[in-house]
Amino acid sequence: MKNEEIQKKYLKKIDQIKKHNKHYYDRDKSIISDQEYDYLKKEIVDLENEYSFLKSNESPTKSVGYKPSKNFKKVKHKVPMLSLANAFDEEDLQNFEKKVINFLSLKKTSIIAYSTEPKIDGISASLTYFNGKFIQGLSRGDGTEGEDITQNLKTIKDIPQEITAANFPKEIDIRGEVFIENDDFKKINEKFANPRNAASGSLRQKSSTVTARIPLKFIAYTYGYVDEMNILSQTDFLNNLKLWGFKINPFNKKISGIKNLIRNHKKLEEKRKEIAFDIDGVVYKVNNFNLQKRLGFAANAPRWAIAHKFSANSSVSEIINIEIQIGRTGALTPVAKIKPVNIGGVVVSNATLHNEDEIIRKDLRIGDTVTIERAGDVIPHVISVDIKKRDKKSKKFIFPLSCPSCGSKTIKDYNETTKKQDAVRRCSSEGYECEKIAIEKIKHFVSKEAFNIDGFGKKIVENFWNLKLIRLPQDIFNLDYHKIEQLEGWGKLSVTNLKFFINQKKKISLERFIYSLGIRHIGQENAKIIAKHLKNSENFFKLSDEKNAESLFNIDGIGATQIQSIKNFFLNRINLKVMFELKKNLEIEKAVLIDNKGLLKNKTFMFTGKLNGISRAEAKSLIEKNSGKIISNVNKKLDYLIVGEKATTKKINIAKELNIKILEQKEWMELLNKTS
Ligand code: IVH
Repeated sequence: MKNEEIQKKYLKKIDQIKKHNKHYYDRDKSIISDQEYDYLKKEIVDLENEYSFLKSNESPTKSVGYKPSKNFKKVKHKVPMLSLANAFDEEDLQNFEKKVINFLSLKKTSIIAYSTEPKIDGISASLTYFNGKFIQGLSRGDGTEGEDITQNLKTIKDIPQEITAANFPKEIDIRGEVFIENDDFKKINEKFANPRNAASGSLRQKSSTVTARIPLKFIAYTYGYVDEMNILSQTDFLNNLKLWGFKINPFNKKISGIKNLIRNHKKLEEKRKEIAFDIDGVVYKVNNFNLQKRLGFAANAPRWAIAHKFSANSSVSEIINIEIQIGRTGALTPVAKIKPVNIGGVVVSNATLHNEDEIIRKDLRIGDTVTIERAGDVIPHVISVDIKKRDKKSKKFIFPLSCPSCGSKTIKDYNETTKKQDAVRRCSSEGYECEKIAIEKIKHFVSKEAFNIDGFGKKIVENFWNLKLIRLPQDIFNLDYHKIEQLEGWGKLSVTNLKFFINQKKKISLERFIYSLGIRHIGQENAKIIAKHLKNSENFFKLSDEKNAESLFNIDGIGATQIQSIKNFFLNRINLKVMFELKKNLEIEKAVLIDNKGLLKNKTFMFTGKLNGISRAEAKSLIEKNSGKIISNVNKKLDYLIVGEKATTKKINIAKELNIKILEQKEWMELLNKTS
């Protein structure tokens, strides 16, 4: 390539990164994934390293972030807020350490101790304290100049307003990350794509009362300007931060040796989904402050620190076919069948394409070369298409206008609230008339959160459907056991068990019953509040009268969408028949009124391991009856971890690290005895 072409290619990439910076920093909305951003940045750095004539003031190696927004007063940071260089693998880490050792002209075999800190994916902020008082808070802005967001930062409970400790410096900028925990993110409205955007957006609200509504957290990790401080290392500094009243990351550690850094990185990557907030890597800082001072800064990042990012979790593959799956609510989900690729140790051959709009937006076609991302528990999905590799003869993908299962017309609903057409196309049949929907509805009926019939999983539903043993939910309670006994893989014992498990579930709570019907927009939470409101199944069946359905308007949390959906459900002839038949077979219990004054009020619990003589479900309901709450992650919000037999040591260890009370089953039972 000629120099001119290289320059052109380079400037194009700079333009792209500028655009993405604007989205990320100023509009709180990324349009590419973090991996794609990091990759673009790496391409620029690589080009600069290869061709020394390439220069731009807007290169990510020169500038940090984006100019502050106009909404806030701009204030210069006394000490700039810099960025960190990235490392992706062992080789990058070896190079980093070599540079440190060379720079300090130490012996090649020297051992460097690092403070290792999970890199929280939030928004950094700098808090100025003068005479122990929090006087000003700034966002990072472009690194030199930040935005004055003092009032908004004051709404964050983790930020101490006043510090009286004797060794707290007279003037200091405490720096750290503002973020939102994943559980809290789920609770706030879906305006933001991810917790980072939500934190950034709410922190930069014009009105601090709006910020205060969002449960932002703050974890401290470094300092900017300081007038005098007698602390010799980063780990000591972190300990002092804690003594001064700041929150610090519970997973911080002091480590030396690249192999040990990698071991810790791997452990944290595995732990990632159990941690209450998003982390995207681990930051390593040379621990000794004296050495840090000597190492100083390169263009826009310190020489004494590096961010070891988590693996990209993406790979390139080709779309072989696009199949349409039909869900319980009739939603048509396009799924790309791709040439199998290994992404982070898992072979992926399917990727969701979400819905029709997504296909149109990305113009996805059969035969396309695509980048697939698989992160944590998220279903693998396509993040981008390489248009250059597209076959000239390829054709746009036409989304089916009739249901591939039953042939009914497919439709897009109009959403009254957003005043927009849904992105999802659905089968217009009313439910059980469509074979694929019916199968999905029965799968839902027997699922863990609904009837929870032991040993009656999705595979059995499909198997029994193919053998015409079931067509509607009530068929489960009138199975032809003789026929089943003759089937391959079944015998007397397994049939007796199946019969026992099914009969056991003939007694069912009202909320589970409502949820199991799979009424659109009535999930577990709504089913629970409706059950609590209606108290018994008779009242529920009376909802077939429109007037009674309208009365649900009085319930907090139930709106027009849910009521319309309930009305539609009761208008359907087959649904009425299903309910009538189920009623004959079942004993639907009255809703239990939860005692909100229970002794476990405001306390959260989690179980690990097998409990003795009591099922998990019953144990959970015991806690709920006493106003306690069950959560599914070991995080700071957990008060008690109840440990049964063969418990996961991983969970116990995290609980120990977080100082969570660990109870054996016996101790927990004793606690319950006190409550009743
Ligand atoms: S130290 C000069 N420590 O990562 C040192 N940064 O890419 C700069 N971050 O702007 C910061 N966790 O938003 C540091 N334990 C940690 C961090 C951390 C997250 C973020 C921070 C910073 C960015 C640098």
